[in-house]
Amino acid sequence: MKCQIIYGSKYNATKQNMLWIKERLELENNFEVELSQIKDVSILTDSKLLIFATGIYSGKAVEGFNDFIEKNKEQLLQKDLVFLIVAMNKENCFDETNNLKILQDLPQDIKDKIILQDGLLGEMIFQNLNEDDKISIDYFYKKIMNLEGEALKKALSPRTLLNKKDAWSVAENIIKLYKD
Ligand SMILES: Cc1cc2nc3c(=O)[nH]c(=O)nc-3n(C[C@H](O)[C@H](O)[C@H](O)COP(=O)(O)O)c2cc1C
Repeated sequence: MKCQIIYGSKYNATKQNMLWIKERLELENNFEVELSQIKDVSILTDSKLLIFATGIYSGKAVEGFNDFIEKNKEQLLQKDLVFLIVAMNKENCFDETNNLKILQDLPQDIKDKIILQDGLLGEMIFQNLNEDDKISIDYFYKKIMNLEGEALKKALSPRTLLNKKDAWSVAENIIKLYKD
């Protein structure tokens, strides 16, 4: 079965998670996976399953995510859709009905095509962020979380929550949806 994974990733944790998902899906005989970045990709006509993944930045998807969906709506309506987010605190990314907050404004006919939505953990390496992102993370920890001293130092130190086992488990849940 042909599957396309389209991801938006600023600092590569989403890409890494999607490489693991691709790896696990392709260990099933019938899965053939193409992985592409959201900027400058077109949707494969012969794929049945389309997996979207985005990193979360201040509660939002990567730039261009909603536009991409709107622009390609007619093609998306022909596919089974999976939406995945990658964040440091994935629980906060779901609303009280267990739906991803970033999908709230999608048209209902697109929502009806979603077969699975889930969250994976990413990583944050402050030194690697661009200047704007450094400013927002600094503001978040100092002014919103009111962290200082050791607690602030700890929050700003390189942290990875990447986990191949979690990524494989999401892939296995997708595989189950196509068994029998
Ligand atoms: C500017 C910025 C804002 C972020 N905001 C959130 C957030 O609101 N919630 C969260 O759980 N993680 C947040 N994160 C953590 C990212 O989701 C995490 O670093 C993830 O790995 C990003 O994906 P990427 O590495 O593919 O770019 C933020 C990171 C940055 C740089």
